[in-house]
Amino acid sequence: MKNSITIAVGCVLLTACTHAPATLKDALAGKFLIGTALNIPLIEGTDTLGVAVVRQHFNAIVPENCMKSMFLQPEEGRFFFDEADAYVAFGEANKMWVTGHCLVWHSQAPQWLFVDKNGNDVSREVLIERMRTHITTVVSRYKGRIKGWDVVNEAIMDDGTWRPSKFYQIIGEDFIPLAFQFAHEADPDAELYYNDYSTAIPAKCEGIAKVVKAIQGKGLRIDAVGMQGHLTMEFPSVEQFEASLLAFSALGVKVMVTELDLTVLPSPHNFSGADVSANFDFQQELNPYVDSLPAAVALVHQNRYVDFFKLFLKHQDKVTRVTLWGVSDRDSWRNGFPIPDRTDYALLFDRSYQAKPVVEEIVRAAKQ
Ligand code: G3I
Repeated sequence: MKNSITIAVGCVLLTACTHAPATLKDALAGKFLIGTALNIPLIEGTDTLGVAVVRQHFNAIVPENCMKSMFLQPEEGRFFFDEADAYVAFGEANKMWVTGHCLVWHSQAPQWLFVDKNGNDVSREVLIERMRTHITTVVSRYKGRIKGWDVVNEAIMDDGTWRPSKFYQIIGEDFIPLAFQFAHEADPDAELYYNDYSTAIPAKCEGIAKVVKAIQGKGLRIDAVGMQGHLTMEFPSVEQFEASLLAFSALGVKVMVTELDLTVLPSPHNFSGADVSANFDFQQELNPYVDSLPAAVALVHQNRYVDFFKLFLKHQDKVTRVTLWGVSDRDSWRNGFPIPDRTDYALLFDRSYQAKPVVEEIVRAAKQ
């Protein structure tokens, strides 16, 4: 009697386990880290449903905004670390891989960084010292706790040329190796990454490869190239993405997919008319899924996501982390870019924090 009860209970438990929804981090364990970007409500815990999803499915985090230099050092020498401290504490409390984003970026940099008190560009030497101070202060504070840094973000244009940022204009090409040197001096054990978008464009891939070689040529540490992965339904193809992934890997660095999302919305860039009265129709046309995403579109979106995950799994010896740029569609930056106030469906969890069917499909792909 006792034995049959034990067997019955065992069966019930087994059935329950079999039907428990699989999590991304369990399915991908041993293959690559699976991460997400944290906004302030997630970091501060006010988005309780979002936090539950982060804990359940992800084992790596990156701060969506709070470690950008305009937030960390809005005035010279005055650092504000409260949100960044909370971000790192969240990662540690949940035993996650904690990445820092980003030390040097032309965007979201404080105005004072590049100019003197008269508003003129500072000298090369002054900007190098300001860069050194920022990097050293920030990296040292989280030494041993932040495991990897996006050291330089988006320095190369889509055609492979240098972005004419203030860092480039004032310091020259050297600003990148210098940034990597300063980061390494502040935390010799931290991994260091170069991070950029549209990396599947061949010319851009070549430009980034030159940057990686320049860093390596000076004997400096660089662990990985971050391929951001802000995908559209049209670009890039899986094959184009794979070509760049292999090109970066051939340089002797790892590859990370650092800011993955997949917009379903049409791009406005083909619009060439100037008829102001067309504006309303135009907006409607570019925001077609305000109420819901038609099942047929959702399926194409899902299949494209799965195809990319299959690519990442195929190259799991080269890919060390895949990070989604946010948790739920509700909070994705895609709703606001390049047109404000649209309704996009770019992530893996819907506006009610429910896992989309794509999560199950990714889990299935990982188990194959
Ligand atoms: O925090 C201020 C707030 O004080 C102010 O009242 C409000 C008014 O607009 O702006 C708030 O800042 C916004 C910030 O996000 C934090 O919410 C900025 O306007 C807004 O431009 C900023 O957008 C971020 C963008 O980077 C620029 O930093 C997006 O959320 C973030 O998803 C996006 O992330 C970037 C990666 O860092 C680098 N790669 C591309 C990726 C997407 O653009």
